[in-house]
Amino acid sequence: MSLLLISKNRDFSSLEKALLHKDPNLDVEIWPRVEKKERVTFAVCWNHPEKVLGNYPNLRTVSSLGAGVNHLLNDQSLSQDIPICRLITESLQDQMAEYVLNAITNYRLHISDYYEQKKHGTWEQKSSIPKKYSSIGIMGLGEMGLNVATLLAQQGYPVNSWSRTKKNLKDLTSFAGTEELDDFLAETKILVNLLPLTDETDGILDLDLFKKLKKPGYLINVGRGDHLVEEDLIYAFDMDYLEGACLDVFEEEPLPKNHSFWNRKQIMVTPHIAAITPAKEAAEVLIENYKRAMSGMDLMYEVDREKGY
Ligand code: NDP
Ligand code: OXD
Repeated sequence: MSLLLISKNRDFSSLEKALLHKDPNLDVEIWPRVEKKERVTFAVCWNHPEKVLGNYPNLRTVSSLGAGVNHLLNDQSLSQDIPICRLITESLQDQMAEYVLNAITNYRLHISDYYEQKKHGTWEQKSSIPKKYSSIGIMGLGEMGLNVATLLAQQGYPVNSWSRTKKNLKDLTSFAGTEELDDFLAETKILVNLLPLTDETDGILDLDLFKKLKKPGYLINVGRGDHLVEEDLIYAFDMDYLEGACLDVFEEEPLPKNHSFWNRKQIMVTPHIAAITPAKEAAEVLIENYKRAMSGMDLMYEVDREKGY
C-alpha cells in the first residue's frame, strides 16, 4: 500500500520529508514517477492533471492538499465511490483569520493610499474608518469562516454571516439561504467571501450582489477565483458600489501579466497565500486519514458529495 502525492506544480520535498519523519515505514510515491501503480491506495492532490486518478486501480481514498475540493469534485476520472477528504489544520484557520483581519485594517486605515503617496512624496493624512461603520459580512461560516468571524468579533467589529443553514452563535448575526441573502448584504460594508466553489456559488460575486451592499462597499475574496465575475468588479468600482477589493484568488492563476487587475489602484492582489498548510501539520492530518482509510474508519474532514463541499 502506498500514498501518492500528485501535483503539476508543487514541490513535494518538504511534505515527503515530513511524512517520512512522522512515519518512516510509509511508502510515499511522487507523481509522475510512480513505480508501483497497483500499490497506490491513497492519493493527495493539488492542481493535479486531468484523468490521472483513473490510473490507480486500488485507490481507496483521495485527499485534497488544501481546504478546497472543487478540483477533485470536478474530476470525472475519479469514481463516485471513492471518498474525498480535505486538509484542515489550526494553522490554516489562524492564517486565514490573520489575513482577513489585516486586509480589513489596511482598508480602514487607507494603507494602500499611503503606499501610493510615498511613491510621489505626498504627505496627506486621512481619517481612518471607525470599526462601528465597518460592518463585516462573511459568506460561508465553515472551517475558515467561523474562525475569521470569531477573531473579528473579538476585535470589536460588528459581524454578520451568511451560510446555507442558520447558526446560533454569540456576537454574530446569522443569515441563511437565498431568501436572506439580500438582508445580509444590506447590513454589509466589508464583504468577505469564504464559500466553497459549487454549482450554486460559482459567479455569486457579481454586479447584482455588489449593488446591494452598503455603499461603497469593500470586497475581500479568499474563496475561489470563479466566485467572482471579474468584469463586474470593474463595473462595481465605476458605479461606486465598491471602493476597493483585496483578492487572493483568481479565475486564472498565476494572474496573467497583462491582466487589468494589476494596474487598478483599488485592488490589492496577493498570490493565493491567504492560508498555506505547513508540511509538518499537513503530514499529521494526512497520515491520520491514511491510517483511517486503510482500516475502514471514518475519515476526518470528509466531503459530502451531495452538498459539494
Ligand atoms: P467549509 O466547507 O468548511 O464551509 C463552507 C461554508 O459555506 C459553510 O458555512 C456552508 O454553509 C456555506 N455554504 C456552502 N454553500 C452555500 C450556499 N449555496 N449558500 C450559502 N452558504 C453556503 O469551507 P472552508 O471554510 O474550509 O473553505 C472556505 C473557502 O475558502 C473555500 O472556497 C476554500 O477553497 C477557500 N480557501 C482558500 C484559501 C486561500 O489560501 N485563499 C485557504 C483555505 C481555504 P453550512 O454551514 O450551512 O453548511
Ligand atoms: C485551500 C487553498 O483550499 O489554499 O486550502 O486555497
